[in-house]
Amino acid sequence: MSQLLARKSIDKLIAESEQPEHRLKKTLGPWSLTALGIGAIIGSGIFVLTGTAAAGEHFEIPSLLHAQVLDLITNFLQHGTTSGALMHGRPAAGPAIALSFILVAIACSFAGLCYAELASMIPIAGSAYTYSYATLGEIFAWIIGWDLILEYAVSNVAVAVGFGGYLKAQLAAFGLNIPDRWSTSIFAGGQLTGAYFNVPAFLVVMVLTVLLVRGVRESAEANNVMVVIKIGAIFTFLVVGGMMVRPANWHPFAPAGFAGVVTGGAIIFFTYIGFDSVSTAAEEAQTPQRDIPFGIIASLIVCTVLYVGVALVLLGMMRYTTFVSAPGNAAADAPVAYALKTLGASRAWQSIIIIGALMGMLSSLLVFQYGQTRIWFAMSRDRLFPRIFSAVHPRFKTPHWSTWIAGLLVGIPAGIVDIGDAADLSNIGTLFAFVLVSLGVIFLRRTQPDRPRAFRVPLVPLFPIISVVLCGGLMTGLTVITWLRFVIWLAIGLVIYFLYSRRHSEFAKPRP
Ligand code: ALA
Repeated sequence: MSQLLARKSIDKLIAESEQPEHRLKKTLGPWSLTALGIGAIIGSGIFVLTGTAAAGEHFEIPSLLHAQVLDLITNFLQHGTTSGALMHGRPAAGPAIALSFILVAIACSFAGLCYAELASMIPIAGSAYTYSYATLGEIFAWIIGWDLILEYAVSNVAVAVGFGGYLKAQLAAFGLNIPDRWSTSIFAGGQLTGAYFNVPAFLVVMVLTVLLVRGVRESAEANNVMVVIKIGAIFTFLVVGGMMVRPANWHPFAPAGFAGVVTGGAIIFFTYIGFDSVSTAAEEAQTPQRDIPFGIIASLIVCTVLYVGVALVLLGMMRYTTFVSAPGNAAADAPVAYALKTLGASRAWQSIIIIGALMGMLSSLLVFQYGQTRIWFAMSRDRLFPRIFSAVHPRFKTPHWSTWIAGLLVGIPAGIVDIGDAADLSNIGTLFAFVLVSLGVIFLRRTQPDRPRAFRVPLVPLFPIISVVLCGGLMTGLTVITWLRFVIWLAIGLVIYFLYSRRHSEFAKPRP
């Protein structure tokens, strides 16, 4: 029991990270970190999920698995039974999805402040995993490290699939048609599609893996360029699409009221995943105490403004019902491309926007692959993962084995599954991590009140509690099947912990 709750000392964590064989290069300044954040945040989510989240979803066969946990709870509180819950699907947010973006940004800012405090206090690779090892104990650190694989690896599966879809659309516009069997998921909505493998989704991950093995400095510079390009593409869409807006499409604004806004929020939460990845780079930041909080908050603000703009323009261009999820509905798979094409935007404008969007997805993929390996790096340094995960390349000074393993772990599933399931699973995992990080801030303020904090969350414990409530609330907007998958994932993690990690951990050794 004492090992399960064993905590790492923050001083020891910092000292270990300074050992030469495990030291990473300190190359990132405040604007590179902000670009890193934007690079991770704006991926395929805004270009794929905005439409389907606004349109809602309807299943012919009712199933408890498709019910939102929020609906089950409300029905139970109102009627004492769960049978009236919306088991046919989820309500449409409509154009009010723009409000969902603001709501989720508020939830993320509270969580972001908590991340920033811990990151500025414990500037070590590994993000929430490291923070919980120092605050809550080994078993919580393991759970969160395992959970973060959902955030980084599984969400990247979704982004890679989104990339593949837009790439296929763009190549088709150039007259190059990739056969469907080699460019779509093998499974979609739990059913076989008849496709063999999604090659573009797999290949993009492999190319980025090579880039990351060669070194973070080069990758961060490439990321800066891609960030500028994708922001440019979004602005272009706001102007070109903005001229095609018909205000009548904004009515009704919130067809299912607040329920639609919350469930839409639980889906588009995916579009914000990534701002916390700035904190995973703490060990490679030049002045982490100052730059990490800056990077997190600045990237959140920029993205919220852009997202609300895209949502209003897209749902002003076409009625929200156009984007309903259905097999073969191009409006659901690539809503931005569809709206521009259908409303007659010129081929040149379409290409500029779509190629920019593809760049956006690339930089998101890059930062997530990077973040994933840094968490494994930290877990391996603590011996909860095998040593090979923290081996640093002699010349490039990057964790090359982790990088290759992450490449295959993301690339292969990206060739197999579709975007929706992967996105929901990574949402629940990320929200859970946010809840634990927020609790960690409250805990650490009590246990280590005097440790210097370059950044302090205002009004503790109120702000972290708001973060827990908002993130927990968004979790209830997800479906029963997503919750089940999440619980199964955590159970597998616990089996690995008790069979491997617990025995290898430094706390397993008899201490003098
Ligand atoms: N936030 C990232 C995206 O929107 C994961 O694709």
